[in-house]
Amino acid sequence: MRRKVTGSKYQERSGPREPARFHELNKKLFIKSYGCQMNVYDTQRMTEVVEPLGYQSVDSPDDADLIILNTCHIREKAAEKVYSELGRLRQLKAQRSKVGRRLIIGVAGCVAQAEGAEMMRRAPVIDMVFGPQVYHRLPDMVRSAEAGNRNILDTDFPAEDKFDHLPKARALTGPAAFLTIQEGCDKFCTFCVVPYTRGAEYSRPADKIIAEAEALVASGAREVTLLGQNVNAYHDETAQGVVTGLADLCTRLASIDRLERIRYTTSHPRDMDDALIEAHGTLVQLMPYLHLPIQSGSDRILAAMNRQHTVEDYLSLVDRIRAARPDIALSSDFIVGFPGETEADFEATLAICKTVKYAQAYSFKYSPRPGTPGAALDDQVPEDVKSRRLAELQALIICHQSEFNESCVGRVMPVLLEKSGRLGGQMLGRSPYLQSVHVAASADLLGTIQQVRIDDVKPNSLGGSLLAPAPVVPATMAPAVASDSAAEHSKIPTLESTHQA
Ligand code: 5AD
Ligand code: SF4
Repeated sequence: MRRKVTGSKYQERSGPREPARFHELNKKLFIKSYGCQMNVYDTQRMTEVVEPLGYQSVDSPDDADLIILNTCHIREKAAEKVYSELGRLRQLKAQRSKVGRRLIIGVAGCVAQAEGAEMMRRAPVIDMVFGPQVYHRLPDMVRSAEAGNRNILDTDFPAEDKFDHLPKARALTGPAAFLTIQEGCDKFCTFCVVPYTRGAEYSRPADKIIAEAEALVASGAREVTLLGQNVNAYHDETAQGVVTGLADLCTRLASIDRLERIRYTTSHPRDMDDALIEAHGTLVQLMPYLHLPIQSGSDRILAAMNRQHTVEDYLSLVDRIRAARPDIALSSDFIVGFPGETEADFEATLAICKTVKYAQAYSFKYSPRPGTPGAALDDQVPEDVKSRRLAELQALIICHQSEFNESCVGRVMPVLLEKSGRLGGQMLGRSPYLQSVHVAASADLLGTIQQVRIDDVKPNSLGGSLLAPAPVVPATMAPAVASDSAAEHSKIPTLESTHQA
């Protein structure tokens, strides 16, 4: 059961009565998702819960009757970005009211959780503010807003499990789907807002995850990415004492017919246990790509960040993971300019980057988050120093990433074809290492895994060609053609990394 952390009661205040339009069936919903994959998943689930009220999802706010900003609070000026978007929406709402049409505006996600009623005061254009734990209550909130109520506020951490109140069938999300298995975090890294906005660590029951994965596969998914703020802390225990860790969960998922690929993100080094490392060597469905943030290469800074591991711990972990799965591609997050970071600390971050040679990595300037211990530290690093360090680190990361991508040219690897490319006759897919791959292929191969020879490296993707024009067959897993020695694989990023760990 979810631990109740804090909360505010569902509140609302009445406003003018609503025009008849809100009793119609063909209303339009636009959700703008900021931040990580967990928000993408939440956006999909919110869409599913309001569809029965007659809302169809659209790609633009212009004609929407209901607009939700699904916000992220992880780094700098997130709240300010939301307020400027709300400024634009205020104009849209005013135009609507001139022609007698109402527009409902909601703010969801971590900024909503953190700011709560304050958002309502600062931006009266908002009708609803609600946190990540209550989107199963969204239909009630929307009905209430449709009835003319305004200032609907719900930032509760309810005792009930929101997943129990969401539709069991999943909407078609394409061949590669996200599935949240864990939320919240108990690690309390001193820079991070997640334990405050997403609450205490919580793992969904394994049986329910399996059922959701089966529903996703039934609706066409061939790949599932398991999501959690600290996903490898996943831990389920039944009343009979049957314990399921992430490795066990992956093993169970791997037995689902037609689920060809499993990924998970984001992991904390401390929670990478032996069973999970071993699973990378034994489960063919577990893709050879691991996002394992280190954040800094300096033990002093890691301690100040409360990361609970040293550089040596991390490197020995990397060795063990590479021993289990030699071709694994590693990725990381880095923060530069954490309070007290000296040039020597920063040099140590560059050094770990050179040692591990990440296939891909995300890097950020430290951004003091109100209420976190890091924000209260005295020795904040000046902005210009942070900018210089970030540029230097990113240049190094890009260099390693390019090397990895170049090393893929000439290799043949299985690519899951996920959607049409921008050019006619072109499909866009993913390699096992999460690289985007463009390939000339007919649209009826959508959702299949094809053997593709990598021909060249483009700025944000790889170019490849089908090894042989393949007939349309159910997707099957084929191992990457074994080639290169090991350890030198990368990915091209398309999404911001999921918080955290
Ligand atoms: N400032 C800068 N980066 C941060 N991250 C989390 N909190 C902060 C912060 N306050 C980064 C971490 C994390 C990623 C998702 O965002 O690197 O792993
Ligand atoms: Fe938890 Fe990750 Fe945030 Fe640390 S960075 S507090 S592990 S979510």
